[in-house]
Amino acid sequence: MIELKNVTRRFGETVAVDNINLTIETGEVCVLVGSSGCGKSTTLRMINRLLPHSEGEILVDGEDITTMNPEQLRLNMGYVIQGTGLFPHWTVARNIAMVPRLLKWPKERIDARVHELMTLLDLDPQAHAHKYPQQLSGGQAQRVGVARALAADPNILLMDEPFGALDAITRENLQLEMLRIQRQVRKTTVFVTHDIDEALKLATRIAVMDQGRILQHDTPENILRDPSSEFVENLVGKQDRGLKLMSLQSVRKVMTAHRDSRHPEPGVDTVREDDSARLALSIVLWQGAEQVPVVNADGQEIGFVTRERLMQGGA
Ligand SMILES: Nc1ncnc2c1ncn2[C@@H]1O[C@H](COP(=O)(O)OP(=O)(O)OP(=O)(O)O)[C@@H](O)[C@H]1O
Ligand SMILES: [Mg+2]
Repeated sequence: MIELKNVTRRFGETVAVDNINLTIETGEVCVLVGSSGCGKSTTLRMINRLLPHSEGEILVDGEDITTMNPEQLRLNMGYVIQGTGLFPHWTVARNIAMVPRLLKWPKERIDARVHELMTLLDLDPQAHAHKYPQQLSGGQAQRVGVARALAADPNILLMDEPFGALDAITRENLQLEMLRIQRQVRKTTVFVTHDIDEALKLATRIAVMDQGRILQHDTPENILRDPSSEFVENLVGKQDRGLKLMSLQSVRKVMTAHRDSRHPEPGVDTVREDDSARLALSIVLWQGAEQVPVVNADGQEIGFVTRERLMQGGA
């Protein structure tokens, strides 16, 4: 879907992006992670031609982007930036409708789409559609930014630290929302962050960057288990790697059908199949329990996670 081949970008003497190769498959969430100034935003902005690349080739669906009309290219790429980039004098609805209006969709179709997206992003259209951006909270404005990027149903989503300025709780909510939306609409996404935990949570693959280069491009699990260099190892945090791996693992993978009858009845806290093994471990430790029941959406017990199994590292 998106291919960067030996791509370099210079600003005068500075080499912002240094001969990178990166392939992002259709439907993937590729997260670029690395410290400030390592070239993440530059990489993103070359993909939608906000910046021309100095050398190399960028292909989208096999086509060299320099042969495409930049406006046309951008219509197929939603772009979300930190601080939202919303137009302050436009209402929320008008902001979201920006690209559909450019595409001259009929008014009814635009209205329906705005309504649909606001609902998808958990923004009550009645309450917020006619507000101006400065009347929204940071988290709400960020959601509007995401809705706007999705409006004309682009195949590709480029997100540059979209949740960077938010408090931890709002940020976590938006991350969860993004995972939910991604399950529903599955866009090929390039997501930039300097937060490795955010990267581990959202990525299908992570590209770790340093000084304009890509040091490792792999799944979150492989990045944690097998960091390719000391830099990557330090970035993921040597010491709580075990817990981070458990965050990636679902309860489904470590549950058993039956309760371990050598131990007393489990406590009241339960987990779902989709929860992380880390949450189950947390309950085990906090309650001093030997096992945690796993329940389905109706609250029925469908299995157990035992302390013993969790202590095997969930491997
Ligand atoms: N327009 C520009 N003119 C000159 N140098 C630039 C320009 N844009 C970026 N650079 C330089 O290119 C390098 C990479 O910048 P880039 O914005 O891609 O970093 P980043 O990884 O997104 O960092 P951050 O996490 O701080 O956003 C930096 O050294 C930066 O100073
Ligand atoms: Mg940046």
